[in-house]
Formats: sequence, structure tokens, C-alpha cells
Amino acid sequence: MKKLKICIAGLGNVGSSVVNLIEKNSSYVETKSHLNLEIIGLSAKNKNKERSFDIKKYKWAETPIDLLNINDAKPDILIELIGYEKGISYDLVKSALNQKIHVVTGNKAMLALHGQELFNIAEKNKVSLLFEAAVAGGIPIIKTIKNNIFLNKIKKISGILNGTTNYILTTMEYQNKSFNDVLEDAKQKGFTSDHESKLDIGGYDAAHKLTLLSSIAFGGEIDFNLNEIEGIQNITIEDINFAKQLGYRIKLISETCVIDNKIYSSTKPKLISLDKPLANANNALNAINIETDQLQNLYLEGEGAGGLPTASSILSDIFEIASNSEFRSTGYKTGQLIEYQKFDSSNIESKFFLRIRVIDQSGVLSKITSYLNEYNISVEKILQFADSKENHIPILITTHKIKMSELLNSVKKIGDLEFVDENISIIPIE
Ligand SMILES: NC(=O)c1ccc[n+]([C@@H]2O[C@H](COP(=O)([O-])OP(=O)(O)OC[C@H]3O[C@@H](n4cnc5c(N)ncnc54)[C@H](OP(=O)(O)O)[C@@H]3O)[C@@H](O)[C@H]2O)c1
Repeated sequence: MKKLKICIAGLGNVGSSVVNLIEKNSSYVETKSHLNLEIIGLSAKNKNKERSFDIKKYKWAETPIDLLNINDAKPDILIELIGYEKGISYDLVKSALNQKIHVVTGNKAMLALHGQELFNIAEKNKVSLLFEAAVAGGIPIIKTIKNNIFLNKIKKISGILNGTTNYILTTMEYQNKSFNDVLEDAKQKGFTSDHESKLDIGGYDAAHKLTLLSSIAFGGEIDFNLNEIEGIQNITIEDINFAKQLGYRIKLISETCVIDNKIYSSTKPKLISLDKPLANANNALNAINIETDQLQNLYLEGEGAGGLPTASSILSDIFEIASNSEFRSTGYKTGQLIEYQKFDSSNIESKFFLRIRVIDQSGVLSKITSYLNEYNISVEKILQFADSKENHIPILITTHKIKMSELLNSVKKIGDLEFVDENISIIPIE
């Protein structure tokens, strides 16, 4: 039986689930893996907060840093589940790695912004910094890429990496509600907070996760600046309904690939054909598609958040540490990682969906189409919503394939027309 001493910093949604899971499954884990997991210390912000387990059974550290030497005992593994991008999360993880303590974390923001430095420290000290929980909650995507398909040449990863935005888009469609109404609803139900929703809705949370996926898929240094990011805050119910009429669903898609030796990593709303699995991963699910030289379409779907699913990933990292003698957190030696440049996406060809909100007057449509013709933009479909209550109506257009740079020239001209009354929304079609 191998004994592992564990400390947990952060006892919120995920941290509490990890404690509960270890308590509940300890004899199952011992029988199956010959591992004895002993929690030797816990820490959170407020010692007096009510928890879902009996806190008196454990040693409490007044600050998370005290966990690294609790009653003169050093843990084998520190689990960081506080979640700050820097501050105490970063100080704690760095300090643990420098003291040759393995770290398991769910903190994608910290790793996307400071991972390169932290993985270097881990490697120097021959310990692991594992992060299965940081990307897509309970879906084992990191180990799939790092272990199972490590010798595949990955062509592209695309997916839905944020459950909150997926829930919002799904609810808008099914309940025919506006973005703001659904967001308010999600906040009231506790799915997201003011602070979290900025990261979720703005696309930043998904881009943090994509940064990690891109690095382990293409052996690149961790560089958050390679991302193009656009959130879902401008998606309207008309966009969703029109997309559906055309056979598409709007999803916040994160995708990464290498083009001309540069990284293209983008998180933005996209129209996905309804016959694709990604279009049908609804509510708070996460889903990821991987294309390699050997696998045309490896598709993983599941719970991308939540205490128990995320605790499952934490436990799988503990098991990896216990089973491995060589510790390669990202699958690569850090000195081997490539410093990629960012690909200029304005040259990527795509079909596009445009929403142009205009003042309802005669001649509007012909003026818009004449500008599109002038710039050789070939229109696939066009729809004008008649709305007797409002003087302002949306015109919805889908184009044939064109480069974004070319499309932008005509969109700018159309946007300057006096009857166009808000920024034109452009959404690529997959
Ligand atoms: N929730 C999910 O579904 C999910 C999924 C994947 C990854 N993650 C990641 O997992 C991490 C934890 O998420 P969570 O949802 O469990 O967060 P959470 O519910 O907000 O819990 C945060 C914990 O950190 C503690 N904390 C806050 N400030 C602290 C400080 N200064 N010193 C010590 N402790 C402090 C809090 O203490 P109190 O309890 O005393 O307030 C709380 O226990 C984050 O990095 C998150 O991104 C979460």
C-alpha cells in the first residue's frame, strides 16, 4: 500500500467535493489502486463557514501557505482549488513546487497566464504540476492528449469549453428569451456570479482553457496572448432563430490549429451545422472534437463543471502522480517547447453570418446588397424581419466563402450608412 499525504487549499464547490470523495471512496481506492490517501491539512478563507463535511476531523491551516509545513509534516501533494489568477494561488503553487511538493490544480486562469514559469519550476524540481481539472471539468481531455494520442499529429482541436455560455445560448433558444434575461436568471440560480460571468461571457475562461490545450497539442510555450477572443454578449434571439432556420446552432467555439507554423487560437461564437455533434452538446455540457493524422474525429462530451465531475479529474491526477516515476506535467520537456507566433486570421476564408440592424425605410435592402456586390461579396441567403412594433429591424445575411479582411471593407462602408443603427454583427459559419 502506497501512502500519500495530501493538503487541500480552497474548500468551495470543488475542494469540498474532493474531501467528500476521498472520505466516501477511500476503501474502494485502496482496493483498486493500493493507494492510501491521507488528508493532512485543509485551508480556506473562513474557518467558521458551514461545510458539507466535518471539518473538526482535519488539521486547519490559518493560511494556505502553512499547509506546506503543517505540524512539521510536508505533504506529498498540494491541491490548489482557490482559483485566483495570481495572488495567494500563484504564491502557494510556486512555493510548493520550490519545496519539491507535487501540485494538482483546477486553476486555468493561473496556468494560462503564469503556467510557463510554473511548469519550468516543476520540471527543475522533478515534481508534477497537473491540471486535468482545469480544462473541461470532468472530461479527461488532458490525459487523452498527453498520453493516449501523444504520438498522433494533431491537426485541430475545436470545442465548447465553457458550460455557462453554453447554458445561456441553449436557454435563449429553448425559452425564446433575450441574452440579458437568461443571464440574470443564471446569476439568480447561482450558475455564475458577476465576476465569473465577465470571464465566462467574454470568452476569457474558454480562452484560458484553450491556451493549455493548444500548448499540449502542438508542443508550444504557454502564451495567452496568442488567443483571439470574442464573447457571446452580442448574440440576439434573432441571430439564434435565423441560424436555426438555416440549419445551424450558435455556439461559443474555441479552436486551435497550426497554420504556416503559426498558432491560430480563437474563441468566438460560430454557426455550427445541426448535424454536427458539437451543435447538439447543449445546456451546461462541454464537448471537444480532435482531428489528427490518425483519427478523423475524436469526440469527447461530458460535464465540464460541477463539484463531483471536477473532483474526478483531481483524483485522476493524484493517481497519475502515484503511478509515475518521471514527471512531465505537459507531456513535453519545457526546453523542447516551441515559441509560436500568432497567425493572422483575417486571411482565413469562411462563410459568414451578418446581422445589420437598420431603421425600417424603403430602399434599405437594395442599398446594402449593392454595397455587398461592389465588394464582390456573394450572398447566400438574406432575411428581413418585419416587426410592426419597432421602427428598427434586423436584416440577416449569410455569405459564400470570403476572407474576413475582404468582408470587413464592405461591412465598414455599410456600417457608415445613415440608416444602420448599431455595429454590424459578424459570426463565422463552421
Ligand atoms: N466549480 C467548477 O465547476 C470548476 C470546474 C473546473 C475547474 N474549477 C476551478 O477550480 C478552482 C476552484 O473552483 P470552485 O468552484 O471550487 O471555487 P469556489 O467555490 O469559489 O471556492 C473557492 C475556495 O477558495 C477559498 N478562498 C478564497 N480566497 C481565499 C484566500 N485568500 N485564502 C484561502 N482560501 C481562499 C474559499 O474559501 P471560503 O470557502 O472560506 O470562502 C473557497 O473555499 C478554480 O480555479 C476554478 O476555476 C472549478
